[in-house]
Amino acid sequence: MLELVPITEGIGTEVRGIDVTRPVSDVDLERIYQAWIDTTILVFRGQDMTPTQHVEFTRHFGEVFTYTRSQFNDDEHPEILILSNITRDGKPIGSAYSGRVWHSDGAYLTDPPVGSMLYAREVPPEGGDTWYGNMMAAYDALPPAVQERIADLKVVISRVQSRPYNYPDRPAPTEKERAEWVDVTHPLVRVHEVSGRKALYAGGNVPWRIEGLSEDESAPLITFLQEFSVQPRFTYCHRWSVGDIVLWDNRSAMHRATYYDHVKHRRLMHRTTISGVRSAAGTGSEA
Ligand code: SIN
Repeated sequence: MLELVPITEGIGTEVRGIDVTRPVSDVDLERIYQAWIDTTILVFRGQDMTPTQHVEFTRHFGEVFTYTRSQFNDDEHPEILILSNITRDGKPIGSAYSGRVWHSDGAYLTDPPVGSMLYAREVPPEGGDTWYGNMMAAYDALPPAVQERIADLKVVISRVQSRPYNYPDRPAPTEKERAEWVDVTHPLVRVHEVSGRKALYAGGNVPWRIEGLSEDESAPLITFLQEFSVQPRFTYCHRWSVGDIVLWDNRSAMHRATYYDHVKHRRLMHRTTISGVRSAAGTGSEA
């Protein structure tokens, strides 16, 4: 029987009593979907799914997105992005160092993905955890004067400047990339299109700035918001076991991966990404 168990007071729901490879009833699916929207991350433990089942399960939460230009998509299932330090024939099979700073996926895009589903296939004995932060809870806890101050502000995100933070192992952007990667702006307070709740969209340890403010005004405000939003009361650290799935809502969560010993240990994670909201309620497979 489906059980939805809060992970902490501030964030997350553990979904128990389901095998994600089996049909899920519309009623259960609706409860799971709502828990995702309300608590921003879902944890499913002990799941054994093929890449095809991973993609199919992801579809219950929205349209699946394929990183068309990624060199780390799974060959047979391009919807799956491989995050790993494993090499084959001397070549990396996945992105090894991504996501080490607090971030929201694709913030540098005009239309960032709405969510991601990460599945653990091989995990190191220590490290390689993932932290999640609930940006709705962080927004709600801000002093009213700060909420008012930031209500109509926008953040400017430079993909070029974020590069060394997000992907320290990759070369600096080329001239062509610099020309293509134009800065984007997003509201600093994001209104969730499904729930209508407000969430802070202030970025993590990456150099964002606030549109229309001088550097002297922008830097302290953004630093305050970034530090405020990742306090322990809004965050949860997931210690992975093989077979775990974490689904996060990119509109209301930030996340970051932690260090592990890449030389001694292997980590193999499969990630699907969700680009758009569900087209209709009731995408379960059984009545
Ligand atoms: C990510 O940032 O999408 C991946 C996080 C992780 O590898 O734990």
